Amino acid sequence: MEEQKKYIQALIKLHRGLERQGPGDKDLSNQIISQITELLPPNPRIADIGCGAGAGALLLADKFRTKIRAVDFSQEFLTELEKRAKQQGLENFIETIKCDMRSLDWEHGSIDLLWSEGAAYIITFEGALRKWRPLMATNGIAVISEMSYFTNKRPESVLTYMNNAYPDIKTESENSEIIRSSGFELLEIHRLSSKAWWVNYYEPLRENIISLKGSKDSVMQTVINETEMEMKFFEKYENFYGYSFYIIKAA
Ligand SMILES: C[S@@+](CC[C@H](N)C(=O)[O-])C[C@H]1O[C@@H](n2cnc3c(N)ncnc32)[C@H](O)[C@@H]1O
Repeated sequence: MEEQKKYIQALIKLHRGLERQGPGDKDLSNQIISQITELLPPNPRIADIGCGAGAGALLLADKFRTKIRAVDFSQEFLTELEKRAKQQGLENFIETIKCDMRSLDWEHGSIDLLWSEGAAYIITFEGALRKWRPLMATNGIAVISEMSYFTNKRPESVLTYMNNAYPDIKTESENSEIIRSSGFELLEIHRLSSKAWWVNYYEPLRENIISLKGSKDSVMQTVINETEMEMKFFEKYENFYGYSFYIIKAA
């Protein structure tokens, strides 16, 4: 347990100061927001789950000008989000909530838009959908990004790697089935471009790696090695997997 705590601390430190803690893209998020706005009621009740330092929450706050419940279990990321909200004049629209995404005790049917980027995997895509479905208002919309296979056949090396990195990864069509069986209707899937991974996430992360490379902390060295391996792997096999944004509606 102590080891796991140290590992998470090192991971948080490696992501310190970055605009985002996982792959994503402002332009794609804005495109999705414009697409779903007409499906939402006025003053929608919105949550960003696994919000990190607020890449999604701040966009949502700016667009909807209504309170965003921003959930994360890292106080460090939430504090960073509060700081950024203030800098952008959005502090009245951000409510940070330090909480485990598995135990949101909100009233059932109380969320019109549930947003979650690069975080559902923590409890698996299916686990997240099942946990969060009761929170959704009738016809509520969820936008969830999830690392997915893009092809039905994958090289053995990809299977071996994923078996270790994310054994629950599925194809988009398998996830579409999970969406239906969890009480949602699939509206659309958008794939995040590989350019967005590099420009918005890996390149800024690489800067942090460079500045922490000399760390004497062995856990930090493990985290750095794994992250560098992850980048190399993505560079080689990006045609086989990536992030898919699932836009879904509570059925
Ligand atoms: C890959 S990051 C994505 C952050 C942000 N959505 C983004 O795209 O920049 C995953 C986030 O989930 C948070 N997290 C991990 N486990 C969690 C849990 N059990 N409950 C709530 N948040 C959690 C992490 O602290 C981290 O901020």
